[in-house]
Amino acid sequence: MSEIVVERVERTYRSGARTVHALGPVTATLEAGRTTAIVGPSGCGKSTLLRIIGGLDRPSAGRVSVRGRPATGGMDGVGVVFQRDLLLDWRNILDNVLIAAEMKGMARAPAERRARELLAELGVADFADRAPWELSGGMRQRVAIARALLCDPWLLLLDEPFSALDALTRDQMGVLLQKVQQTTRTTAVLITHSIPEAVFLSDRVLVMSARPGTFLDDIPVPLPRPRALGLREEPEFAAIARRIRVQFERSGVLTA
Ligand SMILES: Nc1ncnc2c1ncn2[C@@H]1O[C@H](COP(=O)(O)OP(=O)(O)OP(=O)(O)O)[C@@H](O)[C@H]1O
Ligand SMILES: [Mg+2]
Repeated sequence: MSEIVVERVERTYRSGARTVHALGPVTATLEAGRTTAIVGPSGCGKSTLLRIIGGLDRPSAGRVSVRGRPATGGMDGVGVVFQRDLLLDWRNILDNVLIAAEMKGMARAPAERRARELLAELGVADFADRAPWELSGGMRQRVAIARALLCDPWLLLLDEPFSALDALTRDQMGVLLQKVQQTTRTTAVLITHSIPEAVFLSDRVLVMSARPGTFLDDIPVPLPRPRALGLREEPEFAAIARRIRVQFERSGVLTA
C-alpha cells in the first residue's frame, strides 16, 4: 500500500529580494511498513522535504498526500526526530518524553508506563528523573527517539537522528532503531549523510543531487532482517553502497 505520495514537489524560499530554490521537483511513492533512507549533500533540501512530508512546511509547487489526504501539521500518528534533539532543559527526561502525550491530551498513567518502557528499551531508564544536560549526546538522542515513539506512531520521520554521535554510538543506535522498528512495524523516512547507515537501516535508498535536490537514483535494499553490523562487510552490502557512491561521483557531489 502507498502511504505517502510525493508528486512533483518543489520548495523555494524567499527572503527579501533573494530566492533560494531549495528542493525539487521530486516525485516518489513510499510503501507502508518500509524504511526509506534519503541521502544527499548538505543543503540539498532533505530537511525541507521531510518537513513537507510531515506537514510542517508547505511545498511551493506539487503536493504530498499521506494515507490519501494532503499532509498537514499535527497529523495523528506521526513521530518526528529532528536534526537537533530539542529536549527542554527545564523538564526531566521522563517529562520530556511525555510532552508528546500531553499535547495529545492522553492520560498520564498509561503514557508514563509506555514512556518508561521505551526508555528501558533504549537503555536510558535509569536517567528518567535527570535533567537533559546530565546526559551525553547519544543518550539525549535516545530520549528524543523515545518521545517520537511514545504515541505509537505509524509514521516515523527521522532527520539525521544520529549525526551528532560518535561512530560507535551511532552504530549501536542503528541496531537499536532497527530493533524498535521490528516490533512496531512503522513506516519510516530516514534522512542521513551516511551511505552505510542508509543501506544498513533501510529497505530503499533515494539518492539526492545537490541543491535544488532531485532524486538521482532509487535503490532497493533487499538485505534480510534482522541485520547485524557485520553485514556491512558483505559483498551484497558493499555493492549497494558502491552504487550510491557512484551516483555522488557522477553528479560531482563527491570528487576524487
Ligand atoms: N526556513 C528557511 N528559510 C530560508 N531558506 C531556507 C530555510 N530552510 C532551508 N533553507 C535553505 O534551503 C536549502 C535546503 O535546506 P535544508 O535544510 O532542507 O537542507 P538539508 O539537505 O537538510 O541540509 P543538511 O544536510 O545540511 O541538514 C538551503 O540552502 C537552506 O539555506
Ligand atoms: Mg537537514
